[in-house]
Amino acid sequence: MKGRLDVYGATPDLARGAAERITVLLNDAITSRGVSSFALSGGSTPRAVYEFLGSDEFRLRVDWNRVHLFWGDERCVPQSMLESNYRMVNEALLTKVSIRESNVHRIEGEQKPKDAAMAYEQEIKQLFELKKGQLPEFDVMLLGIGEDGHTASLFPGSAAIQEQTRLVLEVHVEQFSADRITMTFAVINNAVNVLVLVSGRSKASIFQKVLEEENHLYPAQLINPTSGHMHWFADIEAASQLRTLPHL
Ligand code: 6PG
Repeated sequence: MKGRLDVYGATPDLARGAAERITVLLNDAITSRGVSSFALSGGSTPRAVYEFLGSDEFRLRVDWNRVHLFWGDERCVPQSMLESNYRMVNEALLTKVSIRESNVHRIEGEQKPKDAAMAYEQEIKQLFELKKGQLPEFDVMLLGIGEDGHTASLFPGSAAIQEQTRLVLEVHVEQFSADRITMTFAVINNAVNVLVLVSGRSKASIFQKVLEEENHLYPAQLINPTSGHMHWFADIEAASQLRTLPHL
């Protein structure tokens, strides 16, 4: 298994644990560079983390005006739609903290997918001041995994999985008959800290395969930071089929 695995008794504990770790990592980056970058994930488990980060217990522990927020993926819908990852983060976190608009880098899901992907890639290149061929180093890359082993919007069988040059791609997701925008593994695996959240019994089977099998059948098995740190956050239900469950 790559990286560190923390197993929590229940999902709220997992979400609080991840919020605590994210708070520490963002503050470490702010202390050393005066600024930090945080790539957000969609999904219900990540939402629980954003709700903790936006809660009275956490929200004043980070100077959010020193954090640049990006999305690891987005659905190709207007931000007003329930499916929008931006809308979800706005409700759970952005409305609770003081962060200037220019620090919130929303993927324009309402644009044509190809245009939205290109525009977002340019925005990342501009903020990170990337030279040709350089990759951004996100201080925190937060991910979830689906029951089919997808992560971000990198789904099994997608050509986007192999992409190593583009930072952001538009993908068509057959099973949802929907378009999405996603960061590529080139960006994901160049992050300084990759945190992956896995909760609930429905994820137990895929989590065991992702963590303990090397057959590379599932995109989430390709989460492997080049030089950054890997940190899995699971609850006991999601970890229930692991053969090497760490002591609690
Ligand atoms: C999305 C996410 C996706 C999500 C996983 C886990 O936009 O849906 O980026 O990769 O993180 O599907 O979602 P749950 O935590 O809701 O199972």
